[in-house]
Amino acid sequence: MDKLGERVTIAMDGPAGSGKSTVARRVAEKLGLLYLDSGAMYRAVTVLAIQHKTQTNIDKLIELVKACEIAFDDNGKKIFLNSSNISDQIRTPEVNRLVADIAKVPEIRKEIVRHQQKIGAGGGIIAEGRDLTTVVFPHADFKIYLDASVQERAKRRFTELQSQNVDTTLDSVEDEIRTRDEKDTSREHSPLRAAEDAIQVDTTGKSIDEVVDFIVGIVAD
Ligand code: C5P
Repeated sequence: MDKLGERVTIAMDGPAGSGKSTVARRVAEKLGLLYLDSGAMYRAVTVLAIQHKTQTNIDKLIELVKACEIAFDDNGKKIFLNSSNISDQIRTPEVNRLVADIAKVPEIRKEIVRHQQKIGAGGGIIAEGRDLTTVVFPHADFKIYLDASVQERAKRRFTELQSQNVDTTLDSVEDEIRTRDEKDTSREHSPLRAAEDAIQVDTTGKSIDEVVDFIVGIVAD
């Protein structure tokens, strides 16, 4: 590795279902890095909004976000909001539906980005989301943009939800992903886009191991 493993910063972006979290988690394990799931933080804010019924009262929600504590444990596997474990709550269909509208609020992004930059300040991290390569860590040592066809991404999410016994259909998962893609790429602040200097990886038809090995190979070169 030309960058010492424990100092390196890898930033990864891509749309829902592109494989970012699974791939980043495995790369983190292989290289001994901290794993940062930035989407989980926007999901935590969405849970906060649901708890306080402030989905439409954005000013109130901003105050709550400024005062709240979001923390990870078990290298990103568990997430806590004000000390309570919300790891399951952040993955509900209701949160899926609401999160993109909450994540588009600039004041909320500012708070969350600040928190993420603090977590990553010492390096030794792989962080994934929608604006990690463009806004949060624009000077990361490695920038990767993962993508896959919408059909493949929907199939992956559907299989994941089925294994969790969530009652849904492939069509509704695909609709939800398309809607979220549209909101994430067209919003005014920090829209999802590939950074100019990001390495683009199309994961359609590729196994997780193939993508993980490719990324580990780039970093270890
Ligand atoms: O990555 P995940 O699908 O869990 O992210 C949930 C939502 O959080 C995204 O659809 C997007 O609206 C928002 N998000 C974001 N910026 C990030 C990560 C996630 O706006 N860096």
